[in-house]
Amino acid sequence: MSGVSRVRMVFADAAGHRREIEHAPGCSVMEAAVEHEIAGIEAQCYGAAVCGTCHVYVEAERFADTGSRSPWEVEMLDALALSRPNSRLSCQIRVDAAIDGMVFTLPERQDALA
Ligand code: FES
Repeated sequence: MSGVSRVRMVFADAAGHRREIEHAPGCSVMEAAVEHEIAGIEAQCYGAAVCGTCHVYVEAERFADTGSRSPWEVEMLDALALSRPNSRLSCQIRVDAAIDGMVFTLPERQDALA
């Protein structure tokens, strides 16, 4: 149970422009971003965790709120040139109350791995 009916998320591009959305819990952050047409979330594999083009940076102090990264996700992120310690694949983050209000910053570009 998420405990909320809508979850707020903020997407910031590399230039600092922000856009806030609200979305029902239960899907992935990538799916919510695509539905709201957030520029910069390409999601070429649409959630199969093989393309790397849904890459986001998570607020470092709230990183644990996004859940744990699978070994596969870590491997994918390690292969991305713009990866940082607070990187996640947004298709692997669930939209739920734990991430309410979180800021997801987009990398300068999305590098496809698949
Ligand atoms: S959508 Fe392809 S890795 Fe997330």
